[in-house]
Amino acid sequence: MSTITVTAPAKVNLHLEVLGLRSDGFHELAMVMQSIDLADRLRFQNTADARISLRCDEPSLSIGDDNLVLRAALLLRERSGFNELGASIHLEKNVPIGAGLAGGSSDGAAALVGLNQLWGLGRSHAELEGLAAELGSDMPFCIRGGSQLCFGRGEVLEALPALRDPLAVLLLKDPQVSVSTPWAYQRCRDLHGESYLQGESAFEERRMALREAAWTKPIRTELPPPLRNDLQTVVEPQTPAVQKALQLLRSLPGTLAVAMSGSGPSCFALFPDLAASEQARDLLQTDLESAGLSAWCCPLRLSGVRIEP
Ligand code: C5P
Repeated sequence: MSTITVTAPAKVNLHLEVLGLRSDGFHELAMVMQSIDLADRLRFQNTADARISLRCDEPSLSIGDDNLVLRAALLLRERSGFNELGASIHLEKNVPIGAGLAGGSSDGAAALVGLNQLWGLGRSHAELEGLAAELGSDMPFCIRGGSQLCFGRGEVLEALPALRDPLAVLLLKDPQVSVSTPWAYQRCRDLHGESYLQGESAFEERRMALREAAWTKPIRTELPPPLRNDLQTVVEPQTPAVQKALQLLRSLPGTLAVAMSGSGPSCFALFPDLAASEQARDLLQTDLESAGLSAWCCPLRLSGVRIEP
């Protein structure tokens, strides 16, 4: 029986700009997303019957039909037309849930990539990204990952130059707190909807500005990116765990930039390399313990979902 193992890395947002509201009710975004080396692992095995089953080592995660791994598996099988295909899937969860790190989206993307291989369907990355876009706004990015500009709902992708420097992040999250993404966008709309841009040409102007900014060069130590997250401005005032994490990260020497990721509550500081991020974590050790914050040090990563050799 063949087994395929797939790494599903998390992401952080180096830039998240809310441009306006779309006719489908979603927000039009201009983002820079970056894969990081904090990853779930999924194992896929063929089954003798047409059952698709999911097990997970994290009991708090739903393994029902709302899980993006199962939704991705069912969608891929349906579009393949081979209804007899089955799979047994095991998910090892390392990325915190509800954290703004696209852990669930990356798991779903890993299911598309892993099952495409297991079932021998021969779908291209572009085809899998198309399916991913039907399931979640962040999911298409997760397939190729690395550093990408993400427009539209998040599903319109443009690759950025590969990183050259060994940059790393120190990531902080309160394990007791998660933020609902729909709530964060709704709050953004309630507070800032009046000043949203209107119309495609206004959106395109912002996309061009982002394309022409420093992002078109590899992200590097000498020219740290000016991090921006419009959701941070609405989530931070409502979420003490975000305020605390940002305060601790901002107090550190040697950071290149500090921001919240996605709709939060995880926050990160960018460092020139992994050793610098680890030193920073050591400096904060006592504060992290008294604030009840979990911490991870992870290098930035050149790729997204990957089949392990
Ligand atoms: O696509 P995804 O399931 O990740 O989106 C979750 C929710 O976040 C959406 O239902 C919507 O409320 C909000 N959202 C949005 N605009 C986006 C992406 C997400 O308003 N571009």
